[in-house]
Amino acid sequence: MAESLGVIIATEESPSTSEFSFVAKEKSVKKGQYVQVSHGKGTMFGFVSEVFKSNRYFERPESVADFEKSAGISSQFPSDSWEYVIGAVKILGVFNNSRFERAFTPPSPGAAVHIADNTMLRTFLGFEDNGLHLGSIEHHDVPATVSMTRLLQKHFAILAMSGAGKSHLASVLLEELLERKKEDGRVAVVVIDIHGEYLGFLHDPVFGQKTSLVDGSDICIPLRKVSPETMMEWVPTLSIPQRDVLRHALSALRSEKKDSAGYGFNELLEAVERTDVAKDEVKRALKRSLSELKRYHFLSRKSEKPRLLSDIKPGHMLILDFSSIDSLRKKQILVSLMARRLFSLRKKGKIPPFLLLIEEAHNFAREKAEESEAVSRSIIETIAREGRKFGASLCLISQRPVNLSTTALSQCNTHVILRVTNPNDLDHIQMSSEGIDARVAKSITGLKVGEAIIVGEAVNHPIFVSVRERKSMKREKGAPLHQQAIDFEQKKEKKEKNVEAFL
Ligand SMILES: Nc1ncnc2c1ncn2[C@@H]1O[C@H](COP(=O)(O)OP(=O)(O)OP(=O)(O)O)[C@@H](O)[C@H]1O
Ligand SMILES: [Mg+2]
Repeated sequence: MAESLGVIIATEESPSTSEFSFVAKEKSVKKGQYVQVSHGKGTMFGFVSEVFKSNRYFERPESVADFEKSAGISSQFPSDSWEYVIGAVKILGVFNNSRFERAFTPPSPGAAVHIADNTMLRTFLGFEDNGLHLGSIEHHDVPATVSMTRLLQKHFAILAMSGAGKSHLASVLLEELLERKKEDGRVAVVVIDIHGEYLGFLHDPVFGQKTSLVDGSDICIPLRKVSPETMMEWVPTLSIPQRDVLRHALSALRSEKKDSAGYGFNELLEAVERTDVAKDEVKRALKRSLSELKRYHFLSRKSEKPRLLSDIKPGHMLILDFSSIDSLRKKQILVSLMARRLFSLRKKGKIPPFLLLIEEAHNFAREKAEESEAVSRSIIETIAREGRKFGASLCLISQRPVNLSTTALSQCNTHVILRVTNPNDLDHIQMSSEGIDARVAKSITGLKVGEAIIVGEAVNHPIFVSVRERKSMKREKGAPLHQQAIDFEQKKEKKEKNVEAFL
């Protein structure tokens, strides 16, 4: 065993079954380190929750003030050698017969404290050999290899302020999922990429073979595959008579055009006209409301893109690039369409278990949304509630957790939190994440870019992780600002020169 860090001291409150303090031999004890102490037949495990320094020479203010008037304490006494460091430890459990249990008796004062053994630490935190390698544990040479099943099965959320490293972490996770071996279990991945941040995967020599991309503007589905209920969800403002007409029109089309070349939007409008279940005003109002969907150009006669049945494959990623779509409504409708289709196909066992990763999730499952803006929320909440039974997992990424549906967020059993400074967001995260106590909450504002706290189902204990570098190519849409500015002026100058030359 490694040399001891120090020995346990007796104070008024400790050692107890929940905490102890130790005097450190070296001054190298760090907040956040894991430590262990022999305990009966087992090993007690703890976490350095705070580090204090003390020095008898500086305890009495009046004498310190007195000495500082003359030459100062340090120059007259060997005060440096009297400085000592105390580590306060929160006891996490006892490892006994390869099982972790609660501590029923305190450790003894005078017992030696060691830095935690790496193998035991991995078991303690719940890491697996074939888990997803997201980074490393602070202060320890232990890779954070989180169990895929524990992370994905009950959904997870990545929450942080803008620029804290959410998309970077998501990319690291995607690499891990794409690199998994068949025998370890591979899921399919679908990414709702709002800003074209995941395009690098497509151009990467390794990951490119496992990635396909569909531009959001090219997404389309035959009208035949859309149920009246789904369509009503997209246009929630329809009145009851309007809904009746729509249902009639769609079912008439379905029975009339069974074997033919399918039917599109114009046929739907004609079918609405033909129905005799409502007055002309109702039909006209319905057609007006439906015209919005027509504008979005995603309801087709026959063509379908992506073809989920063939495009969703284990160990493969489908990126839906929404960066060319301006309308939030259209994006929400497409998310609703894709999520519904995926969940329904998965329930029937027609596609493999999948992870649906949604960037800017607060725009698609908004807590307080107008009816017209809530189109995709209900399917996201449904997958959040029922998905785990069917192998349908969600990863919700958001820089505005306050605006994210509490139903969806509370069903995300693991929260990965990166830097957050906004007090409202912090409060919200603390309320919605069960594993976050005041101590962990305090550390969130102090996180640097690329540092994360993982709490919940995926780990046995909240952990701090330094997210690893990515292996895949990074390529984002949009050049840096200064380059865009230079390009703009160059283009303008060229144009002016051309005009001059022409004159
Ligand atoms: N662990 C890390 N190691 C190295 N670089 C990182 C790490 N995490 C983030 N970065 C870098 O920090 C920058 C911001 O990260 P990222 O784009 O992932 O932030 P974000 O939280 O997704 O921001 P936004 O909310 O604006 O989408 C990027 O340039 C990224 O490469
Ligand atoms: Mg991002």
